[in-house]
Amino acid sequence: MNSRRNVSENQISIIIPTYNEAENICPILESISENLPKNSQTEVIIIDDDSPDGTSSLIENYKKLIQIPHYSVSLIKRKGERGLSTAILSGIEKATGNLIVIMDSDLSHPPHVIPQMIETLHNTKCDIVIASRYIKGAVIKGWPIKRRMISKGARKIAQTGLGIKTNDPMSGFFAFRRHILNGIKFDAIGYKILLEILVKVKGVKIEEIPYTFIDRKYGSSKLDASIIFDYCRAVWKLYRYGKSKRAIEKQTSVRFLSKAARFFTVGASGVLVNIIISMFFETEIVNFWYLHANVVGILVSMTSNFFLNKIWTFEDKIFTFQRTSFQYGKFIFFSSLGALVQLSVVFYLVEEHTLWYPLALILGVMIAAMSNFILNKKWTFNEKIWD
Ligand code: GDD
Ligand code: MN
Repeated sequence: MNSRRNVSENQISIIIPTYNEAENICPILESISENLPKNSQTEVIIIDDDSPDGTSSLIENYKKLIQIPHYSVSLIKRKGERGLSTAILSGIEKATGNLIVIMDSDLSHPPHVIPQMIETLHNTKCDIVIASRYIKGAVIKGWPIKRRMISKGARKIAQTGLGIKTNDPMSGFFAFRRHILNGIKFDAIGYKILLEILVKVKGVKIEEIPYTFIDRKYGSSKLDASIIFDYCRAVWKLYRYGKSKRAIEKQTSVRFLSKAARFFTVGASGVLVNIIISMFFETEIVNFWYLHANVVGILVSMTSNFFLNKIWTFEDKIFTFQRTSFQYGKFIFFSSLGALVQLSVVFYLVEEHTLWYPLALILGVMIAAMSNFILNKKWTFNEKIWD
């Protein structure tokens, strides 16, 4: 493998939030440095919320001792702020890597899994790798039954309430391609940043790999009743987020269909206008030659179609001369194109597929009407097709 390619592909940022991790921070940094992914540039970014136990000065001292190529440690100190998810987000903001790893600092997440996660990102071309406690091969060590139950309950809520398919959406240990977060607005409530990512990113490929979770030996978990309450709040917000997304999608399709229905109603009214005018101009009152009368019928019906569609179907109430005449020109052009489409479809179906003429005619009219609608929606009235 070409080494230049490796470096540009493997810019890794490991994000570690800390709050009162004095006993754990140096051992975890040491262990990470012993388990660096191959052929890569790795930076560790620690976000410490002004831990009173002196975590940050331990990090400052540790930083001075590092002498490993392609490896660096930096520290973000936040004052007057707490929160795991927001800490992780501010770490990601500072990260320079294209691949991001998120992990805890309390040695629950073994660093030797990191190279496996990066390898999985590369080998499977996926976007997110979750180190999972709930797939075959995974083990949880040292958790009391109560904590196991909370975790399983939270996981069930996410899976049934939010339709998440992954086995461990609560994992605090995962890696992803940075670009998948582009354009996402986070609520960042409480602990569950991965859950929020899973709900808000669309169309990404996710892999899970098993690992052995070991409960912390030193210090204490910050997960308390308020974090559980935050969890419920976060799930509720994410549920509402999903619901409003679904509602917008539904509204869009209804709008599309209702506009199509209006467009076809106008078309049908045009047929009527066409016949009435063509007949009227041929009567003794006007006394046109019948083909001339028919031309008048066609022109009048095209014009009435245009204005009805402008006012009613597409609700465009701006009638400046230039705008309206341009639109009219395009409308007539697309209508003639529609006629051509219809003729071609009918010809093709009858000649190539020996289809019964009336059936070919129906199909021809339907295809032409639909293409007419879409072309006019997009180009005459400048709307998005699916709006
Ligand atoms: N900066 C910052 N600010 N860091 C924090 C804060 C905070 O307010 N609260 C916790 N942390 C850090 C801890 O120092 C630790 O490195 C990591 O976040 C996880 O905190 P723990 O208190 O050890 O959490 P846990 O072990 O109960 O929860 C873990 O497992 C959960 C799955 O059951 C975490 O990995 C969660 O993310 C995960 O969902
Ligand atoms: Mn922990």
